[in-house]
Amino acid sequence: MPKVTVLPHAELCPEGKTIENAPEGQTICDLLLDNDIEIDHACEKSCACTTCHVIVRKGFDSLEEPSEIEEDLLDQAWGL
Ligand code: FES
Repeated sequence: MPKVTVLPHAELCPEGKTIENAPEGQTICDLLLDNDIEIDHACEKSCACTTCHVIVRKGFDSLEEPSEIEEDLLDQAWGL
């Protein structure tokens, strides 16, 4: 099972966190929320807002290809 390392974030996860045994197929958004890292998710994960976007520093190749909708939305996301 995948291991996910969350780097420290001043507001969301000041100490950082390592999540062992992340379920395969679970979204990063759901994984973070399930582990008490309360990232924004304004549209309740319906792929309409990008407030849940994260930056993947390592392991990008292990992710599924983004859908066309995701690519279009990421063009509008702040901070990327
Ligand atoms: S909560 Fe993820 S796109 Fe809106």
